[in-house]
Amino acid sequence: MEPSQFFNSNAGTYYDTDAGMGTMNELSARHIEQGVCGRVLSIGGMWPRHSPEAVSSLDLVVADVSDEMLRPHREAGISTVLDDARALSFPDESFDHVVLPLVLHHITEQSWRAARREVQKVLGEVRRVLKAGGQIWISEFSVSRPVYWVEAAAAPVTRLVLGFAGIPLVVMHSAEFYRGVLLRQRFTDLSSYYPAPSDASWRDPIRPIIGLPWLKVPRGLYPVRPVVLSAVAAW
Ligand SMILES: C[S@@+](CC[C@H](N)C(=O)[O-])C[C@H]1O[C@@H](n2cnc3c(N)ncnc32)[C@H](O)[C@@H]1O
Repeated sequence: MEPSQFFNSNAGTYYDTDAGMGTMNELSARHIEQGVCGRVLSIGGMWPRHSPEAVSSLDLVVADVSDEMLRPHREAGISTVLDDARALSFPDESFDHVVLPLVLHHITEQSWRAARREVQKVLGEVRRVLKAGGQIWISEFSVSRPVYWVEAAAAPVTRLVLGFAGIPLVVMHSAEFYRGVLLRQRFTDLSSYYPAPSDASWRDPIRPIIGLPWLKVPRGLYPVRPVVLSAVAAW
């Protein structure tokens, strides 16, 4: 199933279900909002826990392949566009900031290897639509190198199992992989922010799989680490 179809069918549950990442999302949102200004493109929906006040000061467009995922933003009066991160419909150098909130791990073409290629394609597109000196913000779940290689080896089976439930493959990349692609796409001044809520416990329940909202696991058993990477498009 294509991500657009999957998210059109699951948008209601996605927005109604607390995934258990609230405090992390809160910290990431405040971090992003301290940095973004001017004309901003958010690809793959909005950054969760965004503040309406912060957003109202921006010239913001939200892009997504799923019309149902865009619906609440459109209804809130935000400018939206049905668009694919891999082939954006915007002219070169149109934005001061581009945010990718929890979207890159969904762009996989159903294989671990293809997912790496697709991330390169997306970041190339982001580079194209950013003004020189503009900034990219990637909010993601990162994995350690060993987990990344296990994930690669397990991807065919993961794909099969998720496929039975009608869920497209997701691939969580390592922060090192994202940094490498950013450097290859001529981004500079890379920085990383790891949200670390003081009251978080490894036992806190999270719902790690969109499409299986009944599945809850303790955070400590899910080997991902939220990160916000940012970088500047070189002149
Ligand atoms: C996990 S949701 C994140 C939604 C929101 N950003 C958030 O963090 O709550 C992933 C989003 O990425 C969108 N998406 C998936 N593939 C995409 C693509 N190729 N281009 C643009 N959006 C895409 C999905 O439709 C979905 O809205």
